[in-house]
Amino acid sequence: MSPHVKARRGLPYVDPAKHLPHFSWKKRGGAAREVYCEQVPLSQIARRYGTPAFVYSRQAIQDAYRGIERGLAKVPHQVCFAVKANGNLSILNFLASLGSGFDIVSGGELAHLGHLGISGRRIVFSGVGKSREEIREALRYRGNRRDARGILQFNVESPAELEMLIEEASRVSRAAERAPGVSVRVNPDVKAGGHPHIATGLEEHKFGIAWPEARRLYLAHRGAQAIRWQGISAHIGSQIVDLQPFRRALERLASYLLDLRRQGIALEYLDVGGGLGVRYTSEHPASRSDYGRMIAEIAGPLGVKVLLEPGRSIIAESCVLLSRVVYTKSNSRKSFVILDAAMNDLMRPVLYDAPHPITRVVQASSRNENSAERSDIVGPVCETGDTFLVDWPLGSVSQRDLVAIWLAGAYGFAQSSNYNARGRAAEILVYGRTAKLIRRRETYRDLLRTDVLG
Ligand code: LLP
Repeated sequence: MSPHVKARRGLPYVDPAKHLPHFSWKKRGGAAREVYCEQVPLSQIARRYGTPAFVYSRQAIQDAYRGIERGLAKVPHQVCFAVKANGNLSILNFLASLGSGFDIVSGGELAHLGHLGISGRRIVFSGVGKSREEIREALRYRGNRRDARGILQFNVESPAELEMLIEEASRVSRAAERAPGVSVRVNPDVKAGGHPHIATGLEEHKFGIAWPEARRLYLAHRGAQAIRWQGISAHIGSQIVDLQPFRRALERLASYLLDLRRQGIALEYLDVGGGLGVRYTSEHPASRSDYGRMIAEIAGPLGVKVLLEPGRSIIAESCVLLSRVVYTKSNSRKSFVILDAAMNDLMRPVLYDAPHPITRVVQASSRNENSAERSDIVGPVCETGDTFLVDWPLGSVSQRDLVAIWLAGAYGFAQSSNYNARGRAAEILVYGRTAKLIRRRETYRDLLRTDVLG
């Protein structure tokens, strides 16, 4: 067994329909039961839209968003959803309607928000490698006619980026626009985060600027005309389930902010990044509202406005990747369940060894429901890595049975690809009894769209 699949191997059964409030088992007639997303049976969605499909509960998104908001209620704040976690336009639009702002990392993400007419006052631009063109696009951005040009804040991650931003901003500010608000993303050197690929807050990582260097930048550019020092930011990693590392990073950030204040640089914004984890299998993450409260407790006395960049904690739990069993097979050692969903749809297992629980969607009474039959749940892509779970007690399934791959909302569709010339999956948003297509499945024609015969 490759050490690569350790975390996905031989896990105890978890059925998220039992603890996620907007998914549930409901009676189907007789003793049979099936999984619903809000008031819609998943089997109905599979019949109507096909599989694989990402199915989202809108209420789950709203509850998660409000959970964070509730925690932050005591301080002025703006939640900026991290678009990288899920860039579906309908989902972004829904979050905007709840009052969310957005954290972006590319010109492409900015263009998505422009398409929706999102005000620049709600957009924060993060990322370690913003190109000159992307910086220009953000400086010129105008989400709607009433808006002034530009975005709320640039989080700069290197001295060279700051130079480039100043250069570009000085061209724009000749047109008498307000100088753009800037913060330094400080690397607080705090250890946190699940898998090594998603930990970001240590000095050995490429992200942010160490405090002594950041402080020099703030002081050296205190009189700049082209930019305005507005905030300080950090993001220490992702899928962090304890509050302790957040608290440590935040306390450091607060002390830096006070230091700058003593130097006469008064910042208005404290951007604490994202990173709160969710329960995939057996984790016990802090609640969203406790997380918000902890932030408010530290930020409150500073008299600043809090910015937050959550991605996963808002969208992960809201979604299942619905899939059908294509075949089952076994040899003397193992059973395999081969799904129509694959690593191109959900990269997290192969990239981070991330376990996403998988359950059946319909349970007929005639079956042995408690059978703990274990199998490897795999996709059809030609790679051994295309394995969702190893020795997972799915029980017995047959060809065409439906399964749900849980917690697929964050970095699910967003990281999907066309590998093996597979069209990317459909996305469906459920609210109450309604299920709406919010992204159609890609066709073969879509796959050929950008090729140029040379
Ligand atoms: N802000 C910044 C600057 C970030 O780099 C990230 C995520 C976030 C906010 C949102 O973090 P969240 O709240 O979602 O943890 N693909 C990986 C996760 C990569 C996270 C990258 N940065 C995964 O599927 O686990």
